[in-house]
Amino acid sequence: MSFLLALAAGLASPLAFAQAQPAAPKNKTAFVSDLIARMTLDEKIGQLRLISIGPEMPIAQLADEIAAGRVGGTFNSVNRPDNRRLQDAAMKSRMKIPMFFAYDVIHGHRTTFPIGLGLASSWDLGAVDLMARTAAREASADSIDMTFAPMVDIARDPRWGRTSEGFGEDPYLVSEIAKSAVKGFQGTVPVPAGRIMTSVKHFALYGAVEGGRDYNVVDMSPMRMYQDYLPPYRAAIDAGSGGVMVALNSINGVPATSNTWLMQDLLRRDWGFKGVAVSDHGAIVELIRHGVAKDEREAAKLAINNGIDLSMADSVYLNELPGLVKSGEVKMKAIDNAVREVLGAKYDMGLFRDPYLRIGVAKDDPADLNADSRLDRPAARDVARKSMVLLENRNRTLPLAKTAAIALVGPLADAPIDMLGSWSAAGYSKNAVTLRAGLNTAVAKNGGRLTYARGANITNDESTVKYLNFLNWDTPEVTQDPRAPAEMIAEAVKAAQQADVVVAAVGEARGMSHESSSRTSLDLPQSQRDLITALKATGKPLVLVLMNGRPLALVREQKEADAILETWYTGTEGGNAIADVLYGDYNPAGKLPISFPRSVGQIPTYYNHPRLGRPFTEGKPGNYTSQYYEEVTGPLYPFGYGLSYTEFSLSDVSLSSPTMRRNGKIEASVSVKNTGQRAGETVVQLYIQDIAASVVRPVKELRDFRKLMLQPGEERVVRFTIDEDKLKFFNAQLHRVAEPGRFNVQIGFDSQAVRQQGFELE
Ligand code: BGC
Repeated sequence: MSFLLALAAGLASPLAFAQAQPAAPKNKTAFVSDLIARMTLDEKIGQLRLISIGPEMPIAQLADEIAAGRVGGTFNSVNRPDNRRLQDAAMKSRMKIPMFFAYDVIHGHRTTFPIGLGLASSWDLGAVDLMARTAAREASADSIDMTFAPMVDIARDPRWGRTSEGFGEDPYLVSEIAKSAVKGFQGTVPVPAGRIMTSVKHFALYGAVEGGRDYNVVDMSPMRMYQDYLPPYRAAIDAGSGGVMVALNSINGVPATSNTWLMQDLLRRDWGFKGVAVSDHGAIVELIRHGVAKDEREAAKLAINNGIDLSMADSVYLNELPGLVKSGEVKMKAIDNAVREVLGAKYDMGLFRDPYLRIGVAKDDPADLNADSRLDRPAARDVARKSMVLLENRNRTLPLAKTAAIALVGPLADAPIDMLGSWSAAGYSKNAVTLRAGLNTAVAKNGGRLTYARGANITNDESTVKYLNFLNWDTPEVTQDPRAPAEMIAEAVKAAQQADVVVAAVGEARGMSHESSSRTSLDLPQSQRDLITALKATGKPLVLVLMNGRPLALVREQKEADAILETWYTGTEGGNAIADVLYGDYNPAGKLPISFPRSVGQIPTYYNHPRLGRPFTEGKPGNYTSQYYEEVTGPLYPFGYGLSYTEFSLSDVSLSSPTMRRNGKIEASVSVKNTGQRAGETVVQLYIQDIAASVVRPVKELRDFRKLMLQPGEERVVRFTIDEDKLKFFNAQLHRVAEPGRFNVQIGFDSQAVRQQGFELE
């Protein structure tokens, strides 16, 4: 009996279903078309509905809806018994089309890895791959089939709270990471067990919301879109991402959800995307609030006709599509197209072969979802160490002496939930190692001494605390120490006075760098500034360990601190990993994936800005050049910057030829030497500057990089191949071209400290 007949006859019990189907239905197109031909309109519409289990719909009701063929997938349920119950319900539906289960697996699942900015700071694609593979394995073991990741929105305005989630400001770096993430999460298509399908987000340009205020409009020239903001989505799609999540924002006046240029011309036609397009949470209904749909009926019509296949967390498709099809306003073809993508994705997830592929059998269900044995702590520690950026290290304050008496202070020194960062998926705060716990373990081993005092609350501003605790967390996350600020500071100062060195864990509660958490200031909250100033006054060496999800404005702290270690949010093994770095058991090698402004007024400070007619010239203030006259020009810490406990030197750049033929290539090389006393890694970065082109080009653009480990005294030649593709850009007609003329190759350890050599493209 054929697979489809077995389905139709209702012969397959859930388990028998899986076992009776050893061979996958061979031809996806034919298989899906055959299913569609036998579905009712209501069943088709049901497949387009993606429901959040929990507050949106309790599981019992959801199971009934599924059995009635009225739901295609769910998200936010991350345990096998629940999802088995829901899959059983699907197997009772007339068509027996399996459900899929999705979740925001962004930077880990049970094991939490560093947040996106931290992963990007590693400039280590192997680390990204390790995170994604581990997260996929764990999520898959919890019956998850799809993740709403990777999040590849270019972010150049750190006021935007979701800067934390992405990989920074640079199109090349973010694109490389996007590819690694997709391959790591998803592997091949069909997606095997142990991997999960990706849906790259948020398509498109979400990171460019005006003023960094979340959900604000995006207004952008096509050239900038093509050149800077679109490449990471494209890279993820070319790497095979099975899904795309559509952004909440409007783009040049049209919401992404109803933007036919975006979804049809660009995504489907020009890029050839063949997968499933998922709306963001409630985005279809929001077309009404955007003011492009007068009611839910019109919103549904706009979205379905625009190829939004899955409607997330609303019932507009369910309620409106039947009437719209009946009236002819929506053609059956539009419905069928969407259903085809949804069923195609399920096929690619392997669910028609085995609806229980990632659910498994009940006897294998884990007794304790949060059991330590389910975590990959070594992987988390390894990646966390790679994600930190040493911003300052005066007088070799770091690494700490193993026997040092340490005063550990600060509101983030012992805050498990904050170690995880936002979008921590199924990460469990009780499994997270805080800095206090990590240092305690290290001190016990090393023979030093540790005293702890909180020193300050995250903020003394009650309305901020209220906001943070109002966010969508299960429990209030920010707990205030009721003592007076002066009393807390006095305790910390006393601890500092009795110590050799002060380590202050300061920054943002994780909710401060989250969806909807935009800020007007990039300063540390005043409570923490006061603490730092008091600690500085003790005269003890002061190490700031920053935990935050966006670049902060650190002019004041740069002066006060002897060392600054940017740790972002490091995840489950954060405290151990930070201790490894502080003691020098690991030599930090992270580099900033986003530039740090001196103040909020300086934004944007991205390094690859377009050339100007009147660029700022060093040492010539007030001469009608582009600057803010009250502020030092340029970022405090540039893109690509990061220190090590050793030093590296760089030779001049040498090129294999002063000219490059059309379609040819040349080689650029530098010699890198570890001139310090310790083994260490650094990232050699290659930038290209186009001297004159038909359009204004960026001052420079990252085009390649290489991370390498050198022993003390070791010297190595690093070679980069430059081909025509690395010189290409989008011209005024939006054609990607390389124009003849002069180029500079700049190679260095960050975007500013470079050596350069020119060549000519013939
Ligand atoms: C976010 C998405 C997320 C979705 C589902 C939305 O609010 O914008 O990034 O994937 O919720 O949790």
